[in-house]
Amino acid sequence: MTATFPTQPVAVISGGLGDIGFATAHALKQTGCRVALGDLHLTGRDTAGFHVHQVDVASETSVQAWFGAVESAFGDPASVIVVNAGIVSLSSALAATLDDWNRTLAVNLTGAWLTARTGARRLIEQKMPGRIVFVGSWAGHAPHVELAAYSTAKAGLRMLTQCLALELADKGILVNEVAPGYVNAGLSGQFFKKDPDCAARSRAAVPVGELIEADEVAAAIAYLCSPAHRNLTGSTLLLDGGLSLLRNPVKKS
Ligand SMILES: NC(=O)c1ccc[n+]([C@@H]2O[C@H](COP(=O)([O-])OP(=O)(O)OC[C@H]3O[C@@H](n4cnc5c(N)ncnc54)[C@H](O)[C@@H]3O)[C@@H](O)[C@H]2O)c1
Repeated sequence: MTATFPTQPVAVISGGLGDIGFATAHALKQTGCRVALGDLHLTGRDTAGFHVHQVDVASETSVQAWFGAVESAFGDPASVIVVNAGIVSLSSALAATLDDWNRTLAVNLTGAWLTARTGARRLIEQKMPGRIVFVGSWAGHAPHVELAAYSTAKAGLRMLTQCLALELADKGILVNEVAPGYVNAGLSGQFFKKDPDCAARSRAAVPVGELIEADEVAAAIAYLCSPAHRNLTGSTLLLDGGLSLLRNPVKKS
C-alpha cells in the first residue's frame, strides 16, 4: 500500500436507500465523503447529492457493474465500503423453505462477501487504503428460533469480518462490523409500526430500555469508516443496549 487516504473519499453503501443505509449516507457526507448508494429498490427518497445505482448484491455481475459505475462517475475507486443491504425472513430452521433460506443467505452473507470482495480488489489494484464496515446484527450473537436463516447469515458475517480483516491488514484496509440490536426503523421498524405492542415488548426486553434510532447506527458506522483509525480491525461494535449480554433465564420478580 503506497497511497494515503483521500481527503474526500468515495463511499459506497449497499442497501443505501434503506433506513440505516440512508442515515449512513448523510453521516458520511457530513464527514466529507462523496457518497454512492446502491440498492435493489430505488424508492422515493430525495437522493440529490448522492450517486444512485440499482444493484442486486446477490449477483456478482450486478455488484461489479455498480462499482464500475461509481468509479466512472467519481474518477476514483471507493475507499469506504459499507456493506449494509439486508433482508429478513421470519422462520424457524424447520419451517424455512429452501428458497427462503437460500435468498436470505444470498443477500445477507454471499452478497456481503461479493460487495466487500469487489471493493477490496479495486483498492488493492490501485494500492489504496480503505475501510470496510459490515452491518451485522445482534441476532448473529444470540440464537433466534424464528430468525434461523437471518441469524445464521449474520453469524457468518462476523467470521467474514475477521477473515477479511486478517487478509487485508497489510494492505491498509481495515474491516469491522457494527451489530445493532432492536432498531426503531428498517427491518424491525416495519414490525414495530404494525404492532406497537411488539415495539413496547422489545423495548422492555433491552437492558438499557431503549430502541436504537437509525442515526445512532449511522454514527457508529461512520466512526468505523474513519481514516483516523489505524489499528481497529476485525472488531464488532455491539450496539444493542446489552441485549446480547442476557444469559440468565430466571426473570427478576
Ligand atoms: N432494523 C433493525 O432492527 C436491524 C437490526 C440489526 C441489523 N440490521 C441490519 O441493518 C441493515 C439495514 O437494514 P434496515 O433495518 O435499514 O432495513 P431496510 O429494509 O430499511 O434496508 C435494507 C435495504 O437493503 C436493500 N436490499 C435488499 N435486498 C437487496 C439486494 N439483493 N441488493 C441490494 N439491496 C438490497 C433494500 O431494498 C433496503 O433498501 C441490514 O443488513 C439489517 O440486517 C437491522
